[in-house]
Amino acid sequence: MENLFRKLKENRDSGRYPCHMPGHKRRACGDLTEELCGLDITETDGFDNLHQPQEILLSLQQEAARLYGAEESFFLVNGSTAGILAAVSASLERGRRILMARNCHRSAYHAAYLRGLDITYLYPAMLSEFDIFDAVTPRQVEEALEQDPEIGAVLLVSPTYEGRISDVASIAEIVHAKGIPLIVDEAHGAHLGFGSGLPGNSCAAGADLVIHSVHKTLPSLTQTALLHVNGERTDREKLRRFLRIYQTSSPSYLLMASIGNVLRFLETDGERAFGIFTQLYAEMMDRLKGCGHLKILPWERGNGSAGSRQDIGKLLISVKETGWTGRKLYDLLLQQYALQPEMAGESYVLAMFTVNDSPEGYRRMTQALLEIDKDPQLETMGREYAGRKEILDFSEKPTSRIPLAKAWDMAGELVELSRSVGRDAGEFVNLYPPGVPVLVPGERITENMYIRIRSWLDSGLTVQGVERKAGNIYIRVIT
Ligand SMILES: Cc1ncc(COP(=O)(O)O)c(C=O)c1O
Repeated sequence: MENLFRKLKENRDSGRYPCHMPGHKRRACGDLTEELCGLDITETDGFDNLHQPQEILLSLQQEAARLYGAEESFFLVNGSTAGILAAVSASLERGRRILMARNCHRSAYHAAYLRGLDITYLYPAMLSEFDIFDAVTPRQVEEALEQDPEIGAVLLVSPTYEGRISDVASIAEIVHAKGIPLIVDEAHGAHLGFGSGLPGNSCAAGADLVIHSVHKTLPSLTQTALLHVNGERTDREKLRRFLRIYQTSSPSYLLMASIGNVLRFLETDGERAFGIFTQLYAEMMDRLKGCGHLKILPWERGNGSAGSRQDIGKLLISVKETGWTGRKLYDLLLQQYALQPEMAGESYVLAMFTVNDSPEGYRRMTQALLEIDKDPQLETMGREYAGRKEILDFSEKPTSRIPLAKAWDMAGELVELSRSVGRDAGEFVNLYPPGVPVLVPGERITENMYIRIRSWLDSGLTVQGVERKAGNIYIRVIT
Protein backbone atom coordinates (compact mmCIF):
# COMPACT_ATOMS: atom_id res chain seq x y z
CA MET A 1 0.00 0.00 0.00
CA GLU A 2 1.38 3.44 -0.89
CA ASN A 3 2.44 5.62 2.03
CA LEU A 4 1.21 9.19 1.79
CA PHE A 5 2.83 10.20 5.08
CA ARG A 6 6.21 9.10 3.79
CA LYS A 7 5.65 11.09 0.60
CA LEU A 8 4.77 14.18 2.64
CA LYS A 9 7.98 13.82 4.66
CA GLU A 10 10.01 13.41 1.45
CA ASN A 11 8.38 16.53 0.08
CA ARG A 12 9.24 18.47 3.26
CA ASP A 13 12.86 17.33 3.11
CA SER A 14 13.27 17.70 -0.66
CA GLY A 15 14.79 21.17 -0.61
CA ARG A 16 12.03 22.40 -2.96
CA TYR A 17 11.01 25.89 -1.90
CA PRO A 18 7.17 26.21 -1.61
CA CYS A 19 6.11 29.11 -3.86
CA HIS A 20 2.52 27.93 -3.38
CA MET A 21 -0.22 27.51 -0.81
CA PRO A 22 -0.59 27.01 2.16
CA GLY A 23 0.54 30.41 3.31
CA HIS A 24 2.50 29.11 6.29
CA LYS A 25 5.16 27.98 3.77
CA ARG A 26 6.03 25.08 6.07
CA ARG A 27 7.49 27.54 8.58
CA ALA A 28 6.47 28.20 12.18
CA CYS A 29 4.22 31.14 12.97
CA GLY A 30 3.22 31.84 16.57
CA ASP A 31 1.94 28.62 18.11
CA LEU A 32 1.86 26.89 14.74
CA THR A 33 5.03 24.81 14.80
CA GLU A 34 7.27 23.79 11.93
CA GLU A 35 6.55 20.18 12.84
CA LEU A 36 2.85 20.71 12.11
CA CYS A 37 3.30 22.88 9.04
CA GLY A 38 6.01 20.76 7.46
CA LEU A 39 3.60 18.05 6.34
CA ASP A 40 0.60 20.23 5.65
CA ILE A 41 0.08 20.69 1.94
CA THR A 42 -2.80 20.64 -0.48
CA GLU A 43 -2.74 19.54 -4.12
CA THR A 44 0.65 20.09 -5.71
CA ASP A 45 2.92 18.26 -8.18
CA GLY A 46 3.17 14.55 -7.50
CA PHE A 47 0.28 14.45 -5.05
CA ASP A 48 -2.70 13.69 -7.26
CA ASN A 49 -6.10 15.41 -6.98
CA LEU A 50 -8.92 14.34 -4.68
CA HIS A 51 -11.65 15.35 -7.10
CA GLN A 52 -10.05 13.57 -10.08
CA PRO A 53 -7.76 10.98 -8.54
CA GLN A 54 -5.41 9.09 -10.86
CA GLU A 55 -2.35 8.29 -8.81
CA ILE A 56 -1.72 7.89 -5.08
CA LEU A 57 -5.21 8.97 -3.97
CA LEU A 58 -6.87 6.63 -6.46
CA SER A 59 -4.68 3.79 -5.27
CA LEU A 60 -5.45 4.50 -1.59
CA GLN A 61 -9.16 4.79 -2.27
CA GLN A 62 -8.99 1.42 -4.01
CA GLU A 63 -7.27 -0.01 -0.94
CA ALA A 64 -10.09 1.39 1.21
CA ALA A 65 -12.65 -0.29 -1.06
CA ARG A 66 -10.80 -3.59 -0.85
CA LEU A 67 -10.51 -3.49 2.95
CA TYR A 68 -14.15 -2.54 3.48
CA GLY A 69 -15.53 -4.84 0.77
CA ALA A 70 -16.92 -1.96 -1.30
CA GLU A 71 -16.94 -1.54 -5.07
CA GLU A 72 -15.69 2.03 -4.79
CA SER A 73 -14.61 4.25 -1.88
CA PHE A 74 -14.04 7.98 -1.56
CA PHE A 75 -11.88 9.86 0.94
CA LEU A 76 -13.76 12.51 2.91
CA VAL A 77 -11.95 15.43 4.53
CA ASN A 78 -15.07 17.04 5.94
CA GLY A 79 -16.21 14.12 8.04
CA SER A 80 -19.17 11.85 7.51
CA THR A 81 -21.13 15.08 7.18
CA ALA A 82 -19.89 15.50 3.59
CA GLY A 83 -20.55 11.83 2.81
CA ILE A 84 -24.12 11.95 4.10
CA LEU A 85 -24.83 15.18 2.19
CA ALA A 86 -23.45 13.65 -1.03
CA ALA A 87 -25.09 10.23 -0.60
CA VAL A 88 -28.56 11.65 0.03
CA SER A 89 -28.21 14.28 -2.70
CA ALA A 90 -27.12 11.72 -5.30
CA SER A 91 -29.83 9.23 -4.36
CA LEU A 92 -32.88 11.42 -4.78
CA GLU A 93 -34.07 13.95 -7.31
CA ARG A 94 -35.17 17.30 -5.90
CA GLY A 95 -38.55 17.19 -4.17
CA ARG A 96 -38.65 13.39 -3.74
CA ARG A 97 -39.40 11.63 -0.48
CA ILE A 98 -36.85 9.99 1.82
CA LEU A 99 -37.56 7.46 4.55
CA MET A 100 -35.20 8.41 7.33
CA ALA A 101 -34.56 7.31 10.91
CA ARG A 102 -35.46 10.08 13.32
CA ASN A 103 -32.17 9.61 15.15
CA CYS A 104 -30.16 10.64 12.08
CA HIS A 105 -27.44 13.23 12.49
CA ARG A 106 -28.17 16.82 11.51
CA SER A 107 -26.30 16.42 8.24
CA ALA A 108 -29.08 14.11 6.99
CA TYR A 109 -31.63 16.82 7.72
CA HIS A 110 -29.39 19.36 6.02
CA ALA A 111 -29.29 17.18 2.91
CA ALA A 112 -33.10 16.97 2.93
CA TYR A 113 -33.25 20.77 3.22
CA LEU A 114 -30.79 21.38 0.40
CA ARG A 115 -32.55 18.96 -1.98
CA GLY A 116 -36.08 20.03 -0.97
CA LEU A 117 -36.94 16.51 0.12
CA ASP A 118 -40.07 15.42 1.93
CA ILE A 119 -39.27 13.27 4.92
CA THR A 120 -41.05 10.26 6.36
CA TYR A 121 -39.55 9.37 9.73
CA LEU A 122 -38.80 5.98 11.13
CA TYR A 123 -39.05 6.19 14.90
CA PRO A 124 -36.93 3.48 16.48
CA ALA A 125 -38.32 2.02 19.70
CA MET A 126 -37.03 3.59 22.90
CA LEU A 127 -34.88 1.47 25.20
CA SER A 128 -36.68 3.04 28.11
CA GLU A 129 -34.37 1.56 30.74
CA PHE A 130 -31.61 3.73 29.26
CA ASP A 131 -33.59 6.58 27.63
CA ILE A 132 -32.03 5.94 24.21
CA PHE A 133 -33.33 4.99 20.79
CA ASP A 134 -32.89 1.34 19.84
CA ALA A 135 -31.94 0.32 16.30
CA VAL A 136 -34.41 0.55 13.41
CA THR A 137 -35.88 -2.89 12.65
CA PRO A 138 -36.57 -4.57 9.25
CA ARG A 139 -40.28 -4.73 10.12
CA GLN A 140 -40.44 -0.95 10.62
CA VAL A 141 -38.80 -0.33 7.25
CA GLU A 142 -41.09 -2.83 5.53
CA GLU A 143 -44.24 -1.26 6.99
CA ALA A 144 -43.15 2.27 6.10
CA LEU A 145 -42.34 1.28 2.52
CA GLU A 146 -45.67 -0.53 2.15
CA GLN A 147 -47.51 2.59 3.28
CA ASP A 148 -45.81 5.00 0.90
CA PRO A 149 -44.80 3.94 -2.61
CA GLU A 150 -43.38 7.43 -3.25
CA ILE A 151 -40.35 6.86 -1.06
CA GLY A 152 -37.21 7.07 -3.19
CA ALA A 153 -34.45 6.09 -0.76
CA VAL A 154 -33.95 4.90 2.81
CA LEU A 155 -31.42 6.31 5.27
CA LEU A 156 -30.67 4.84 8.64
CA VAL A 157 -28.00 5.17 11.25
CA SER A 158 -26.24 2.05 12.46
CA PRO A 159 -24.54 1.79 14.86
CA THR A 160 -26.36 4.60 16.56
CA TYR A 161 -24.38 7.10 18.58
CA GLU A 162 -25.02 4.89 21.60
CA GLY A 163 -24.04 1.72 19.73
CA ARG A 164 -27.29 0.01 18.66
CA ILE A 165 -26.77 -1.98 15.45
CA SER A 166 -29.56 -2.72 12.96
CA ASP A 167 -30.05 -5.91 10.98
CA VAL A 168 -28.86 -4.13 7.84
CA ALA A 169 -28.81 -7.29 5.67
CA SER A 170 -32.54 -7.89 6.14
CA ILE A 171 -33.30 -4.19 5.71
CA ALA A 172 -31.27 -4.06 2.48
CA GLU A 173 -33.32 -6.94 1.03
CA ILE A 174 -36.58 -5.15 1.87
CA VAL A 175 -35.40 -1.83 0.46
CA HIS A 176 -34.00 -3.38 -2.71
CA ALA A 177 -37.24 -5.25 -3.32
CA LYS A 178 -38.70 -1.78 -3.91
CA GLY A 179 -35.92 -0.97 -6.34
CA ILE A 180 -34.55 1.90 -4.23
CA PRO A 181 -31.19 2.47 -2.53
CA LEU A 182 -30.29 1.99 1.12
CA ILE A 183 -27.90 4.51 2.65
CA VAL A 184 -26.35 3.59 6.00
CA ASP A 185 -24.83 6.28 8.15
CA GLU A 186 -22.23 4.03 9.74
CA ALA A 187 -20.27 7.01 11.02
CA HIS A 188 -19.79 5.17 14.32
CA GLY A 189 -18.92 1.86 12.69
CA ALA A 190 -15.70 2.34 10.71
CA HIS A 191 -14.26 -0.49 12.82
CA LEU A 192 -17.05 -2.96 11.97
CA GLY A 193 -15.87 -6.11 10.28
CA PHE A 194 -12.31 -5.93 11.62
CA GLY A 195 -12.46 -7.97 14.83
CA SER A 196 -13.27 -11.65 14.85
CA GLY A 197 -16.67 -12.29 16.46
CA LEU A 198 -17.71 -8.66 15.91
CA PRO A 199 -20.48 -7.67 13.46
CA GLY A 200 -19.58 -6.97 9.84
CA ASN A 201 -20.03 -3.61 8.13
CA SER A 202 -22.97 -2.49 6.00
CA CYS A 203 -21.15 -2.97 2.67
CA ALA A 204 -21.08 -6.69 3.45
CA ALA A 205 -24.75 -6.48 4.41
CA GLY A 206 -25.70 -5.12 0.97
CA ALA A 207 -26.17 -1.38 1.55
CA ASP A 208 -25.74 0.82 -1.52
CA LEU A 209 -24.01 3.72 0.21
CA VAL A 210 -22.13 3.50 3.51
CA ILE A 211 -20.49 6.36 5.37
CA HIS A 212 -17.72 5.86 7.94
CA SER A 213 -16.15 8.46 10.20
CA VAL A 214 -12.75 6.83 10.51
CA HIS A 215 -11.90 9.57 13.01
CA LYS A 216 -14.61 8.45 15.43
CA THR A 217 -13.78 4.82 16.13
CA LEU A 218 -10.38 4.29 14.54
CA PRO A 219 -7.00 5.96 15.16
CA SER A 220 -7.26 8.80 12.66
CA LEU A 221 -7.30 12.59 12.66
CA THR A 222 -10.54 14.50 13.24
CA GLN A 223 -12.62 15.08 10.07
CA THR A 224 -11.35 11.97 8.28
CA ALA A 225 -14.06 9.74 6.84
CA LEU A 226 -14.95 7.40 3.97
CA LEU A 227 -17.88 7.01 1.64
CA HIS A 228 -18.40 3.59 0.04
CA VAL A 229 -20.66 2.76 -2.88
CA ASN A 230 -21.96 -0.57 -4.14
CA GLY A 231 -24.30 -1.79 -6.88
CA GLU A 232 -26.12 -0.09 -9.71
CA ARG A 233 -28.68 1.97 -7.85
CA THR A 234 -26.39 4.97 -7.37
CA ASP A 235 -25.48 7.31 -10.19
CA ARG A 236 -21.73 7.49 -9.54
CA GLU A 237 -21.16 10.56 -11.67
CA LYS A 238 -23.79 12.40 -9.68
CA LEU A 239 -22.18 11.20 -6.47
CA ARG A 240 -18.83 12.60 -7.59
CA ARG A 241 -20.52 15.86 -8.54
CA PHE A 242 -21.98 16.24 -5.05
CA LEU A 243 -18.67 15.33 -3.43
CA ARG A 244 -17.10 18.17 -5.44
CA ILE A 245 -19.84 20.49 -4.20
CA TYR A 246 -19.67 19.54 -0.52
CA GLN A 247 -15.92 19.04 -0.14
CA THR A 248 -13.23 21.66 -0.20
CA SER A 249 -11.16 22.24 -3.33
CA SER A 250 -8.07 22.36 -1.09
CA PRO A 251 -8.15 19.06 0.78
CA SER A 252 -5.67 18.61 3.60
CA TYR A 253 -3.06 16.00 2.74
CA LEU A 254 -2.39 15.50 6.42
CA LEU A 255 -5.97 14.32 6.79
CA MET A 256 -5.75 12.07 3.75
CA ALA A 257 -2.39 10.68 4.90
CA SER A 258 -4.10 9.89 8.18
CA ILE A 259 -6.76 7.86 6.33
CA GLY A 260 -4.01 6.04 4.42
CA ASN A 261 -2.24 5.37 7.71
CA VAL A 262 -5.32 3.86 9.30
CA LEU A 263 -5.89 1.63 6.26
CA ARG A 264 -2.33 0.35 6.59
CA PHE A 265 -2.87 -0.20 10.31
CA LEU A 266 -6.02 -2.22 9.64
CA GLU A 267 -4.25 -4.33 7.06
CA THR A 268 -1.02 -4.99 8.89
CA ASP A 269 -1.95 -4.89 12.56
CA GLY A 270 -5.74 -4.94 12.67
CA GLU A 271 -6.25 -8.52 13.73
CA ARG A 272 -3.83 -8.33 16.67
CA ALA A 273 -5.03 -4.89 17.76
CA PHE A 274 -8.72 -5.81 17.60
CA GLY A 275 -8.00 -8.98 19.59
CA ILE A 276 -6.52 -6.88 22.40
CA PHE A 277 -9.29 -4.28 22.12
CA THR A 278 -12.01 -6.92 22.42
CA GLN A 279 -10.29 -8.48 25.41
CA LEU A 280 -9.75 -5.21 27.31
CA TYR A 281 -13.25 -3.95 26.58
CA ALA A 282 -14.83 -7.30 27.54
CA GLU A 283 -12.88 -7.36 30.83
CA MET A 284 -14.05 -3.86 31.67
CA MET A 285 -17.66 -4.72 30.89
CA ASP A 286 -17.39 -7.87 33.02
CA ARG A 287 -15.97 -6.01 35.99
CA LEU A 288 -18.63 -3.32 35.70
CA LYS A 289 -21.30 -5.97 36.20
CA GLY A 290 -20.32 -5.47 39.83
CA CYS A 291 -22.07 -2.07 39.89
CA GLY A 292 -25.19 -2.04 42.01
CA HIS A 293 -26.49 1.50 41.45
CA LEU A 294 -25.00 2.58 38.15
CA LYS A 295 -26.47 0.60 35.30
CA ILE A 296 -24.33 -0.30 32.28
CA LEU A 297 -25.85 -0.91 28.83
CA PRO A 298 -24.92 -4.57 28.33
CA TRP A 299 -22.60 -5.88 25.65
CA GLU A 300 -21.94 -9.50 24.81
CA ARG A 301 -19.25 -10.79 22.49
CA GLY A 302 -20.81 -11.92 19.17
CA ASN A 303 -24.26 -11.16 20.50
CA GLY A 304 -26.50 -12.49 17.77
CA SER A 305 -26.34 -12.09 14.02
CA ALA A 306 -29.67 -10.34 13.54
CA GLY A 307 -31.92 -7.87 15.30
CA SER A 308 -30.56 -5.19 17.59
CA ARG A 309 -27.05 -5.66 18.77
CA GLN A 310 -24.78 -3.53 20.87
CA ASP A 311 -21.52 -2.34 19.36
CA ILE A 312 -18.15 -2.77 21.02
CA GLY A 313 -16.50 0.36 22.38
CA LYS A 314 -19.46 2.28 23.77
CA LEU A 315 -19.85 2.53 27.53
CA LEU A 316 -23.25 3.88 28.46
CA ILE A 317 -23.70 4.38 32.19
CA SER A 318 -27.22 5.08 33.31
CA VAL A 319 -27.84 6.96 36.57
CA LYS A 320 -31.57 6.78 36.11
CA GLU A 321 -32.19 4.67 39.19
CA THR A 322 -29.91 6.72 41.41
CA GLY A 323 -31.59 10.08 41.30
CA TRP A 324 -28.50 11.74 39.85
CA THR A 325 -28.39 13.49 36.50
CA GLY A 326 -26.04 12.40 33.75
CA ARG A 327 -24.32 15.75 34.13
CA LYS A 328 -23.48 15.04 37.77
CA LEU A 329 -21.74 11.76 36.92
CA TYR A 330 -20.02 13.41 33.94
CA ASP A 331 -18.66 16.20 36.16
CA LEU A 332 -17.54 13.75 38.81
CA LEU A 333 -15.66 11.62 36.28
CA LEU A 334 -14.05 14.72 34.83
CA GLN A 335 -13.23 16.63 37.99
CA GLN A 336 -12.39 13.89 40.47
CA TYR A 337 -11.02 11.21 38.17
CA ALA A 338 -9.69 13.26 35.22
CA LEU A 339 -11.70 11.10 32.84
CA GLN A 340 -13.24 13.04 29.96
CA PRO A 341 -16.45 11.30 28.81
CA GLU A 342 -17.89 11.67 25.32
CA MET A 343 -21.18 13.19 26.46
CA ALA A 344 -23.72 13.61 29.21
CA GLY A 345 -27.36 12.84 28.55
CA GLU A 346 -30.11 13.61 30.99
CA SER A 347 -29.95 10.25 32.72
CA TYR A 348 -26.70 8.78 31.44
CA VAL A 349 -23.09 9.32 30.50
CA LEU A 350 -21.54 7.95 27.34
CA ALA A 351 -17.84 7.09 27.10
CA MET A 352 -16.06 5.64 24.10
CA PHE A 353 -13.24 3.13 23.78
CA THR A 354 -11.48 2.25 20.55
CA VAL A 355 -8.78 -0.06 19.30
CA ASN A 356 -6.22 2.59 20.27
CA ASP A 357 -7.07 2.93 23.96
CA SER A 358 -4.40 2.08 26.49
CA PRO A 359 -5.04 -0.52 29.22
CA GLU A 360 -4.73 2.41 31.63
CA GLY A 361 -7.88 4.00 30.21
CA TYR A 362 -9.94 0.88 30.91
CA ARG A 363 -8.40 0.47 34.36
CA ARG A 364 -9.06 4.06 35.39
CA MET A 365 -12.64 4.08 34.09
CA THR A 366 -13.42 0.74 35.74
CA GLN A 367 -11.96 1.79 39.08
CA ALA A 368 -13.70 5.16 38.98
CA LEU A 369 -17.12 3.67 38.27
CA LEU A 370 -16.78 0.91 40.87
CA GLU A 371 -15.73 3.51 43.42
CA ILE A 372 -18.52 5.94 42.51
CA ASP A 373 -21.01 3.08 42.63
CA LYS A 374 -20.12 2.53 46.30
CA ASP A 375 -20.47 6.21 47.13
CA PRO A 376 -23.17 6.58 49.78
CA GLN A 377 -24.08 9.91 48.11
CA LEU A 378 -25.41 7.97 45.19
CA GLU A 379 -28.48 7.00 47.16
CA THR A 380 -28.85 10.03 49.37
CA MET A 381 -27.86 13.07 47.30
CA GLY A 382 -31.37 14.09 46.34
CA ARG A 383 -33.55 13.12 43.47
CA GLU A 384 -32.41 15.42 40.69
CA TYR A 385 -33.46 13.32 37.76
CA ALA A 386 -36.06 11.07 39.37
CA GLY A 387 -38.42 13.96 39.93
CA ARG A 388 -38.40 14.92 36.29
CA LYS A 389 -38.41 11.58 34.54
CA GLU A 390 -42.11 11.03 35.27
CA ILE A 391 -43.14 14.04 33.24
CA LEU A 392 -40.83 13.55 30.29
CA ASP A 393 -42.39 11.67 27.42
CA PHE A 394 -39.43 10.47 25.37
CA SER A 395 -41.65 8.72 22.87
CA GLU A 396 -43.28 11.91 21.59
CA LYS A 397 -43.33 12.15 17.79
CA PRO A 398 -43.43 15.82 16.79
CA THR A 399 -46.02 16.85 14.22
CA SER A 400 -44.98 18.96 11.29
CA ARG A 401 -47.29 21.29 9.38
CA ILE A 402 -44.60 22.74 7.16
CA PRO A 403 -41.89 20.66 5.45
CA LEU A 404 -38.34 21.34 6.58
CA ALA A 405 -37.25 22.53 3.14
CA LYS A 406 -39.79 25.34 3.32
CA ALA A 407 -39.90 25.99 7.06
CA TRP A 408 -36.21 26.74 7.50
CA ASP A 409 -36.47 29.56 4.94
CA MET A 410 -39.53 31.18 6.49
CA ALA A 411 -39.44 34.40 8.46
CA GLY A 412 -39.06 33.86 12.19
CA GLU A 413 -38.77 35.56 15.52
CA LEU A 414 -37.16 34.81 18.85
CA VAL A 415 -39.61 34.12 21.67
CA GLU A 416 -38.96 33.14 25.23
CA LEU A 417 -38.89 29.38 25.52
CA SER A 418 -41.83 29.22 27.94
CA ARG A 419 -43.96 31.18 25.43
CA SER A 420 -43.10 28.99 22.47
CA VAL A 421 -45.61 26.21 23.16
CA GLY A 422 -48.08 25.94 20.29
CA ARG A 423 -45.74 27.69 17.83
CA ASP A 424 -43.82 26.09 14.94
CA ALA A 425 -40.07 25.73 15.40
CA GLY A 426 -37.93 27.93 13.15
CA GLU A 427 -34.63 26.23 14.03
CA PHE A 428 -33.29 22.79 14.88
CA VAL A 429 -32.98 22.00 18.57
CA ASN A 430 -30.69 19.24 19.71
CA LEU A 431 -28.30 18.12 22.37
CA TYR A 432 -24.70 18.37 21.27
CA PRO A 433 -23.19 15.89 20.99
CA PRO A 434 -24.65 13.96 19.20
CA GLY A 435 -26.61 16.48 17.11
CA VAL A 436 -29.80 14.43 16.73
CA PRO A 437 -32.70 16.93 16.59
CA VAL A 438 -35.67 16.77 18.93
CA LEU A 439 -37.20 19.65 17.01
CA VAL A 440 -36.93 20.28 13.29
CA PRO A 441 -37.97 23.57 11.64
CA GLY A 442 -41.70 23.41 10.91
CA GLU A 443 -42.53 21.14 13.87
CA ARG A 444 -45.03 22.14 16.51
CA ILE A 445 -43.55 22.92 19.95
CA THR A 446 -45.58 21.03 22.55
CA GLU A 447 -45.71 21.35 26.32
CA ASN A 448 -43.76 18.09 26.62
CA MET A 449 -41.09 19.36 24.23
CA TYR A 450 -40.79 22.59 26.20
CA ILE A 451 -40.38 20.62 29.44
CA ARG A 452 -37.78 18.40 27.82
CA ILE A 453 -35.66 21.29 26.53
CA ARG A 454 -36.03 23.14 29.84
CA SER A 455 -34.98 20.00 31.66
CA TRP A 456 -31.87 19.62 29.48
CA LEU A 457 -30.92 23.21 30.20
CA ASP A 458 -31.55 22.83 33.93
CA SER A 459 -29.37 19.72 33.92
CA GLY A 460 -26.49 21.75 32.47
CA LEU A 461 -26.47 19.93 29.12
CA THR A 462 -25.32 21.57 25.89
CA VAL A 463 -28.43 22.47 23.91
CA GLN A 464 -28.04 23.82 20.38
CA GLY A 465 -30.80 25.89 18.78
CA VAL A 466 -31.71 28.07 21.75
CA GLU A 467 -30.26 31.45 22.62
CA ARG A 468 -29.49 32.88 26.04
CA LYS A 469 -30.00 36.60 26.52
CA ALA A 470 -29.99 38.48 29.82
CA GLY A 471 -30.72 35.34 31.85
CA ASN A 472 -33.61 34.21 29.61
CA ILE A 473 -33.77 31.41 27.08
CA TYR A 474 -35.12 32.16 23.61
CA ILE A 475 -36.07 29.91 20.73
CA ARG A 476 -36.72 30.79 17.08
CA VAL A 477 -40.26 30.20 15.86
CA ILE A 478 -41.92 30.77 12.51
CA THR A 479 -43.96 33.96 12.36
C1 LIG B 1 -24.55 9.26 13.65
C2 LIG B 1 -23.65 10.34 13.13
N1 LIG B 1 -23.58 10.53 11.81
C3 LIG B 1 -22.80 11.49 11.28
C4 LIG B 1 -22.07 12.32 12.07
C5 LIG B 1 -21.21 13.38 11.43
O1 LIG B 1 -19.93 12.90 11.41
P1 LIG B 1 -18.64 13.84 11.20
O2 LIG B 1 -18.39 14.50 12.50
O3 LIG B 1 -17.57 12.86 10.83
O4 LIG B 1 -18.96 14.79 10.12
C6 LIG B 1 -22.12 12.17 13.46
C7 LIG B 1 -21.35 13.09 14.32
O5 LIG B 1 -21.36 13.03 15.51
C8 LIG B 1 -22.93 11.16 14.00
O6 LIG B 1 -23.02 10.97 15.33
